[in-house]
Amino acid sequence: MILITAVIAASTAYADTDEDGARLAWKYHCVTCHGQTGIANSDRYPNIAGQNEAYLVSRLRYFREQAEPGNQMNAQAIQLSDDDITILADYFNRKAG
Ligand code: HEC
Repeated sequence: MILITAVIAASTAYADTDEDGARLAWKYHCVTCHGQTGIANSDRYPNIAGQNEAYLVSRLRYFREQAEPGNQMNAQAIQLSDDDITILADYFNRKAG
């Protein structure tokens, strides 16, 4: 019974995160350049679908710190909280690459 509850709780968390991820990806316009599923519409932008979560987190923090002046991602990442970054990294990691 405890196991069943845990499984239900885990799948609920999964659904919430996916919904939150989709919402944030639209809110911050990630989808404009990287596509709804993390596959970019144009070869000017990298595909981020299925990329490792820790890597996505580290890239977003790097851009948020404005480490590379003039990078197009700086203006996107500066708006993100730590929670936003975690949710977005998890979301795009789980999209099929
Ligand atoms: C205006 C277009 C644009 C928007 C909007 C945008 N990005 Fe980007 N993104 C880029 C470009 C261009 C790069 C390549 C930058 C580089 O690596 O120098 C990039 C790189 C990245 C990378 C690094 C990919 C890698 O392989 O290292 C991640 C992760 C990323 N973007 C996530 C996001 C997320 C999440 C959002 C929404 C908060 C977002 N981007 C919004 C254009 C955009």
